[in-house]
Amino acid sequence: MVHAVKIRPLKDTKVFEPIRIGDHTLSNRVVFAPTTRRRALDDHTPSDLQLKYYSDRSEYAGSLLITEGTFVSEEAGLYTNVPGIWSQKQEQAWRKITDKVHENGSYISCQLWNLGRTADPVLLKERGYDFVSSSAVYFSEDSKRMAEESGNPLRALKTEEVEKMVNETYVNAAQRAINAGFDYIELHCAHGYLLDQFLQPCSNKRTDKYGGSIENRARIVLEIVDKLIETIGSHRIGLRISPWAKFQNMLAEKDEVHPITTFSYLLHELQRRADKGTELAYISIVEPRAEGNETVEPSKIAGDNSFVYNVWKGGVLRTGNYTYDVPYFYRALADAEDNRTLIGFSRFYTSNPDLVHRLKEGLSLTPYDRSTFYIKSNRGYNTFLRYGEENEIHKETEETEFPRPIS
Ligand code: PHB
Repeated sequence: MVHAVKIRPLKDTKVFEPIRIGDHTLSNRVVFAPTTRRRALDDHTPSDLQLKYYSDRSEYAGSLLITEGTFVSEEAGLYTNVPGIWSQKQEQAWRKITDKVHENGSYISCQLWNLGRTADPVLLKERGYDFVSSSAVYFSEDSKRMAEESGNPLRALKTEEVEKMVNETYVNAAQRAINAGFDYIELHCAHGYLLDQFLQPCSNKRTDKYGGSIENRARIVLEIVDKLIETIGSHRIGLRISPWAKFQNMLAEKDEVHPITTFSYLLHELQRRADKGTELAYISIVEPRAEGNETVEPSKIAGDNSFVYNVWKGGVLRTGNYTYDVPYFYRALADAEDNRTLIGFSRFYTSNPDLVHRLKEGLSLTPYDRSTFYIKSNRGYNTFLRYGEENEIHKETEETEFPRPIS
């Protein structure tokens, strides 16, 4: 039996004061952080299950939601039932979701995702795609074995392919996201996925203009940012980093260049653009207490994110560390004081569709169920209810309810 998590009410605190992010004023600082749940259709188009899911989580007007990682192209991913935003069909389905979020008075950002070396080489091979990264450095022995056995060994992207990624792939995805009604896009540069593979030395051994020095490792991200500033505007761009995460065998502070050095450069460059009038909407940082879908023991935490605030002066979203001090939320209250920090929740937002309302009123939280995170059925997805709603268990129906096209 899992128990409800008791909490204190956060109304009358800074967490429930408005904050401006890009061109929008949010009514509160609680954000649904990106959370993979694999309930899209098999062709990576958003489904009816996702429509209900995002609609329910946007009911507290003025809230900000960020989508789960959403593939920028077919070859960027192929993890099953993860949504994409490269095609017109996907754009049209997302439009129905963003319309609902807007009807509810809330805002939504689309997280743009590209796996690189953490993709599945076998799935890529089946579709005729190469397995690519910044360099041919596998992230695990398993990945290496699968790649070699399937005849799809990891290779470094050619310089022209990187340029195409900057000028075409990310521009197409971001423009489709804006056409689909998203208020922001978020560049996923965290957790050892493709853009992080370029940023950090352990996975970037290139000798062209995209590797070697810190400036070169950060070049792809900054070129994408500049391209998107031109095409969709800086006020619509967010960017996520995880300087301390060792998820998927990144090395973080054990790498040959310390993450504070690498990420301070990136943030400094973004601040320089802000000083020239093109400030990004927000920088999202993963707290060292979390990495990917895992939790880090406090004794293993090597650093903290305070350096971000010394370099970057705009909006910050922090995630991964706000439910360890329940019922008090000391950390969230302290962070909200600076009027530029957003308080991100992920796992508890999945199991509490009305999380913002519960936090406001101090209504206890429903625990999440890790076993249902990545299954394809509706179980553990739209089966978490608002506070006080009757929780009838329709286990069989939930398990046979699969994603369908949005009608
Ligand atoms: C995951 O699917 O577990 C996942 C996805 C994206 C992240 C972290 C974890 O940034």
